[in-house]
Amino acid sequence: MSTILLAGGAGYIGSHTAVELLNAGYEVVVVDNYSNSSPEAIRRVEKITGKTVKLYELDIKDNAKLFEVFKENRIDAVIHFAGLKAVGESVQKPIMYYRNNIDTTLSLLETMSEYGVNNIIFSSSASVYGENNPVPYTETMKRGVCTNPYGWTKSMMEQIFEDAAKADENLSVILLRYFNPIGAHESGIIGEDPQGIPNNLMPYVSQVAVGKRECLTIFGNDYPTHDGTCTRDYIHVVDLAKGHVKAIDYILSHNCVEIINLGTGTPYSVTEIVSTFERVNGIKVKHVYGPRRAGDLAELYANADKAAEILGWRAEKNLEDMCRDSWNWQKNNPNGYNQ
Ligand code: NAD
Ligand code: UD1
Repeated sequence: MSTILLAGGAGYIGSHTAVELLNAGYEVVVVDNYSNSSPEAIRRVEKITGKTVKLYELDIKDNAKLFEVFKENRIDAVIHFAGLKAVGESVQKPIMYYRNNIDTTLSLLETMSEYGVNNIIFSSSASVYGENNPVPYTETMKRGVCTNPYGWTKSMMEQIFEDAAKADENLSVILLRYFNPIGAHESGIIGEDPQGIPNNLMPYVSQVAVGKRECLTIFGNDYPTHDGTCTRDYIHVVDLAKGHVKAIDYILSHNCVEIINLGTGTPYSVTEIVSTFERVNGIKVKHVYGPRRAGDLAELYANADKAAEILGWRAEKNLEDMCRDSWNWQKNNPNGYNQ
């Protein structure tokens, strides 16, 4: 069976993808520097699947150490999750974001070239559509004007992959544009473990529900949407992980360069998230309405047809599943992986 290297595989999406790849029979090698994760996540992946993962602690920017990993393992494909992802922090520390996100990408591409590995899947983001494309976002739209350095790193990395594939006809690339991943594995033993005060909606909602935060502020209720709050295309992280397995199946049998949205195609508003969370979990989430957050778009969702056509993948879980599984993880692990 093929061996897949997960760069940044100990993180939120990487750990869920590791489970689905192992369940599908792939061998998994994880490389991570734990800058935003813990090796405990991989121990739990092994617990869920009953299979082992080869784990390396290293900074992917460090080419020499990465070479060793490729020397020791016959890698068939890479999934590149490794990156810094906090939008607000990227505005404060743009150089750190450009250095980490772009250098990890260059380091992986150089190492792959050296070892004749020709398949890479990249964690891109809906943020590359920028602020001027109309919804729903379709892969044929041009990359837009991003609203922050994090988004620009994704946009630039997409360009790097496209240029590398143009120059090397053997290189296959799939750029997966994620929408808003939430939820957790149904076992409740792996999930999202943000450091400090969460920036994203669902971790904040869960932490208010568990009593770690006082109150959720809903950023704006005067948007031109059905209830005045922003809408997003929330996708269950297990569906997202299964999309990666389909992308791996595809890239191992096709020489390709593809951009593919991974979303559900259905937007929900912030108040719908809060009310669904409260209803399915039978718990109140204290919230107030506050001013808009700079950089937020009113509406953002995918046209999800290409993933269905090319990969035979569509999201299967609904908003209730997402809210139930987020809470199941949070209430069983109030301090994340630091028990
Ligand atoms: P995460 O922070 O949980 O996972 C990223 C992992 O990469 C972490 O384990 C971190 O320790 C590791 N890492 C970072 N820099 C590294 C380096 N130089 N060397 C080795 N390891 C390094 O984030 P996630 O939510 O799992 O996201 C995975 C990828 O998907 C990221 O690239 C992110 O930008 C992208 N993405 C995430 C979302 C989202 O909402 N979670 C949305 C769109 C795109
Ligand atoms: C954010 C990033 C995006 C990134 C994605 C995944 C911004 C502007 N965009 O998307 O680039 O790819 O995370 O990491 O940060 N909300 C509240 N109260 C909160 C938190 C959020 O009302 O405490 C609202 C937001 O205004 C938004 C929605 O919830 O309307 C979702 O927010 P969030 O989870 O941060 O995701 P995005 O902003 O869509």
